Amino acid sequence: MGSGKITKIIEISRNYSKFADHLTHIMDVVFDKKSLVSLLSLIKNQGGSIGFVPTMGALHAGHLSLVARAAQENEAVVISIFVNPTQFSNQADLEKYPSSLEADKNLLSSLRVPVIIFAPSALEMYPEGLFSKTYDFQGIDQIWEGADRPGHFNGVATVVEKLFKCVQPDRAYFGEKDFQQLAIVKELVTQKKLPITVLGCPIIREANGLAMSSRNKRLSEKALAQAGIIFKTLKWAASQQKTTPLPLLRKKAIAQLEQTSGLHVFYFEFVSVKTLQPLISNEIFKETRIVTAVLLEGVRLLDNIGLETAKNI
Ligand code: PAJ
Repeated sequence: MGSGKITKIIEISRNYSKFADHLTHIMDVVFDKKSLVSLLSLIKNQGGSIGFVPTMGALHAGHLSLVARAAQENEAVVISIFVNPTQFSNQADLEKYPSSLEADKNLLSSLRVPVIIFAPSALEMYPEGLFSKTYDFQGIDQIWEGADRPGHFNGVATVVEKLFKCVQPDRAYFGEKDFQQLAIVKELVTQKKLPITVLGCPIIREANGLAMSSRNKRLSEKALAQAGIIFKTLKWAASQQKTTPLPLLRKKAIAQLEQTSGLHVFYFEFVSVKTLQPLISNEIFKETRIVTAVLLEGVRLLDNIGLETAKNI
């Protein structure tokens, strides 16, 4: 990267310019914990705040929205790219997970904000072997994704705790797309009393409403188009929530989704945003989230909607 371009990037990210001297190429790629810690200590020593975006790579606009927000609110941004083996209960899903560091770097540079990419190996993250810790998240890890994917949230929490330990960010950014994961990370931070603010960010969608996901890369053109029905059904259910009893609404929504040939619904539920437990009555309007997971062409697709958000769509 030419020095002219670097200067321009520094101008764009005024916040960051004070600290940019420490970053050799504005976009630094670091593969080991030790180098990351020493790079970050230079920024922290000058009082710079660190925003952190953990990812598994195969980046898309949803990930970029988290990085852009982190860049607005912090002096330095770390994005981790690590396909975490311990959170996959299905070996085939792990093997099929898309990955391309070069493409990810290009996408990140298009954002024109300085970032530090942390891309460790499995050995670097799990020198003691590929094991998860066992957590007690008061039941929020046992339902929905937790019930269908045993051990998944122990794997997520294990890697997030490890990553938090290396990065020690001031703020960490997670997508509402994985609503249950966001709740679990907040609970992890509370339980471990970590001095990190966890921020949930809105779901970024394709033009037809499909929530962006790295796994969408495995869908055919036809399925990508069909999958627009997920968000359409969520919005419809949200609009009916005040007038139709929830069990009936749930049944109708599942029937609507399963009209798409080959689409299977794992769950479609009205849940409390706090406990993630299913709601049985229509009363608690503000506190409701509708969460769903479906299978299409062998790909598990997650989505959700807050009823307050739905009112503004
Ligand atoms: P990954 O699926 O790569 O997602 C990384 C982050 O991007 C998560 O916080 C996720 O919720 C967010 N995200 C994904 N799609 C989004 C969209 N369409 N709009 C907004 N945000 C979106 O989630 C993981 O990785 C892993 O479980 C991880 C937390 C990195 C632990 O391994």
